[in-house]
Amino acid sequence: MNKKIAIVGAGQVGAVACYTICAMGFCDEIVLYDIDSDIAKGKAIDIQQSTAFFDKPTSVSYAKNINELTNCDIVIITAGVPRKGEMSRDDLLLVNANIMKDIVKNITISSPKALLLCVSNPLDVMTYVVYRLSGWHRSRVIGMAGALDSARMSYEIAKHTKTNINQIKTMIIGEHGKNMISIFENSLMNQKNLFSSLNEKQQNQIINNTKNGGANIVKYLKTSAYFAPGCATAKTAQAILTNKNIVLPCSMVLDGEYDTKDVAIGVPVKFGDNKANKIVKLKLDTNTKIMFEKAVLSIKESIDTLNKHNFFD
Ligand SMILES: NC(=O)c1ccc[n+]([C@@H]2O[C@H](COP(=O)([O-])OP(=O)(O)OC[C@H]3O[C@@H](n4cnc5c(N)ncnc54)[C@H](O)[C@@H]3O)[C@@H](O)[C@H]2O)c1
Repeated sequence: MNKKIAIVGAGQVGAVACYTICAMGFCDEIVLYDIDSDIAKGKAIDIQQSTAFFDKPTSVSYAKNINELTNCDIVIITAGVPRKGEMSRDDLLLVNANIMKDIVKNITISSPKALLLCVSNPLDVMTYVVYRLSGWHRSRVIGMAGALDSARMSYEIAKHTKTNINQIKTMIIGEHGKNMISIFENSLMNQKNLFSSLNEKQQNQIINNTKNGGANIVKYLKTSAYFAPGCATAKTAQAILTNKNIVLPCSMVLDGEYDTKDVAIGVPVKFGDNKANKIVKLKLDTNTKIMFEKAVLSIKESIDTLNKHNFFD
C-alpha cells in the first residue's frame, strides 16, 4: 500500500529526515510543510532532484497550507523556534507548545489515522503536549530522541574501543537532555558487552560526552545538529512503517510502566502495525531507578509550568 509521510517544519532536521527517508526507500510519498512556504518548496524541489540518484522512487512535494496534509501514515513534527535573546526556558516552552497546538488541531482533522512523531524540543514535554492535544491513543504519539542519543553513545564507544559505530548497539532511556540514562547491559557489539572492557573513568567519559553530544556540535556549528537527528527520525519512521517488530528507545506516555503515569519519557518501544505495539520493560537496578525518577520529576516540572499557564484548558 502507498505509504505517505508529512513533515511539518522543513528546517534543518526536517529536511535531512526527508532526504534520508528517500535514500532508504521505504516510503512512497513525502509532503513538506513549513510556516515559510518558500523553504518547504525549495527543499522539496532539491530533495526530489536528489532522488534521481536513489534506487527507489519517492515523490517529494510541499503543501502551502497545513490542511493539505491529508491521509498521512506518519506526521513528523520538526517545527519550532530556537531560544532567542531575552527568552527564558519557560517562554520557549510556551512558544513551542503553542506551535504544537496549532499543528495538532489541523493534523487531527486532515490525517486522522496518522501516527504523530514529535521531534521538536523540549522533546518529552512536546510529546506529552501532542498526546494531550490530539486526544489520540498513546500508541500513536511518539517522540524521537532515544535513537539519536543512542547513536551518540555508539559514537563515543566506537572512539574508545576502535570499533565500527554501526556494529555497536546501545540503549539510552529517560529524559532527552541532562537526565538521559545509559543502559550498559544493552551496550553490545556482536553480543559482547563492551563496557566490561572499559574502566570506570572511560565509562564516565562516554556518559558525559553522550550527554553533551548536542552541545558539543553547537560549539562548532553555532546551530544545533541536524544530520544525526534527521537520520534518527528517518530510522524511527522506518521502524513504524515496516512492521518488523523493531525496538527503539522513544519517548512515550507511560500508563503504569516503570511505575510512572501520565508523563512522556524515553523507554524501549516495539513497533508494528503502524504504531507502538509494546513498551519493553527493562529490569532497572536501584541506581538507574533513582535516575529514572529524577528524569520523570524534571519532565513533570515543565508539564506543571504549562498547567500553571492553563495551557491545556
Ligand atoms: N528530538 C531530538 O533529538 C532533536 C534533535 C535535534 C533537534 N531537535 C529539535 O527539532 C526542532 C527542529 O530543529 P531544526 O534544527 O530543524 O530547526 P530549524 O529552525 O532549522 O527548523 C524549524 C522549522 O520550523 C518552522 N516552523 C516554525 N513554526 C512553524 C509552524 N507553526 N508550522 C510549521 N513550521 C514552523 C520554521 O520556519 C523552521 O523552518 C527544534 O525544536 C529542535 O530543538 C530535536
